[in-house]
Amino acid sequence: MVTIDLKELTKRFGEVVACDHIDLHINDGELFTLLGPSGCGKTTILRCVAGFYTPEEGQVFFGETDMTRVPPNNRNTGMVFQNYAIWPHMKVFDNVAFGLKIRKIPKDEIRKKVLDILELVRLGGMENRTPFQLSGGQQQRVALARALVIEPRVLLFDEPLSNLDAKLRVEMRHEIKRIQKEFGITTIYVTHDQEEALSISDRIAVMELGHIRQVDSPKDIYEEPQNLFVADFIGSCTFLHGTITSANGKKITIETSWGQQLHGRTTRNDLTFSKGEEAFAAIRPEDFRVREPKADFNKLSSTIESLVFTGRYYQVYADVGGTHPVKAELAADSEIKVKDKRDLFISYRDVIILKAEGDPFADRIRSLLEGKAEAD
Ligand SMILES: Nc1ncnc2c1ncn2[C@@H]1O[C@H](COP(=O)(O)OP(=O)(O)OP(=O)(O)O)[C@@H](O)[C@H]1O
Ligand SMILES: [Mg+2]
Repeated sequence: MVTIDLKELTKRFGEVVACDHIDLHINDGELFTLLGPSGCGKTTILRCVAGFYTPEEGQVFFGETDMTRVPPNNRNTGMVFQNYAIWPHMKVFDNVAFGLKIRKIPKDEIRKKVLDILELVRLGGMENRTPFQLSGGQQQRVALARALVIEPRVLLFDEPLSNLDAKLRVEMRHEIKRIQKEFGITTIYVTHDQEEALSISDRIAVMELGHIRQVDSPKDIYEEPQNLFVADFIGSCTFLHGTITSANGKKITIETSWGQQLHGRTTRNDLTFSKGEEAFAAIRPEDFRVREPKADFNKLSSTIESLVFTGRYYQVYADVGGTHPVKAELAADSEIKVKDKRDLFISYRDVIILKAEGDPFADRIRSLLEGKAEAD
């Protein structure tokens, strides 16, 4: 098996820098995901790893070997795409056998390998069907079997599930993870679907505009966002704009523009906050409470502006005095009505304080908040 290293990887298309000096280390056997909005450079990186693109700068290593200029057919990678790319006129068997035939493997060995792999992806007995006789999920399994049967050193997935309906997508996530772990093949998985990324990956790189904004485990990407883009892109967040009033190690206090003090924490050991600097507090909707916690909490007086009952919780917009309402999910066992005046509680741990200075996404958040102020 193999590790993958990208060193200063840069690919340009004319004026567009599709990926900009990307450094990444992917562990042996890891399922590593590139996650980010459309156009951020995910496919470009994948194609550089597969060998379909040659980068202008930087290198791609498999283990110790520099692969940057090795042609795709000598890299031993298996690829699975969004549109399956299986041949409609060929039977399932021949679709899967293709890669083995061009490698001139003996016929009976091919037969055994193909039937084994079809069992593994749960298509046993379907080898004589054509793709027309298969569902979308089954077609995607054929594509997966075809990528796996050549025993690749590296597996590459580019949005493999986006053509499937919601239920099948969830089912196939489990399948891909199961099979990837069974084989232990180092895998790069590309998606713009954060839920898919969080559920399938060992680690995730969150990308924006050709740059990597954070690399972490799914849990840390969600709970420890290191900058405004990641906090905004992953899950849902209310941002409150303000000024730092005290900073003591990880414990930080911010004063919002309407004079509310909020205690929170930083996710960045490498940065220091100073009194008077501009910052944002990011709070997840599920972290607001209507009951007073035991210790170390902030209290926000609020007026409930709107409310939707979802079964498990109330989805609420509440005016806390700022220019825009906060979004909160409040326990469904409490009685809440529109126009109620309620105290909202947030534990210190759940208020993430993020710097404005040096964050390329700060302008976007500022204008988002100002835009909402105008709309109000
Ligand atoms: N062959 C190409 N020629 C010119 N520009 C390209 C080419 N391929 C990609 N780009 C540009 O490079 C940037 C990154 O594209 P890329 O396909 O890597 O994005 P992506 O993250 O995979 O997006 P999506 O989620 O939409 O698939 C985009 O701005 C895109 O327009
Ligand atoms: Mg893409």
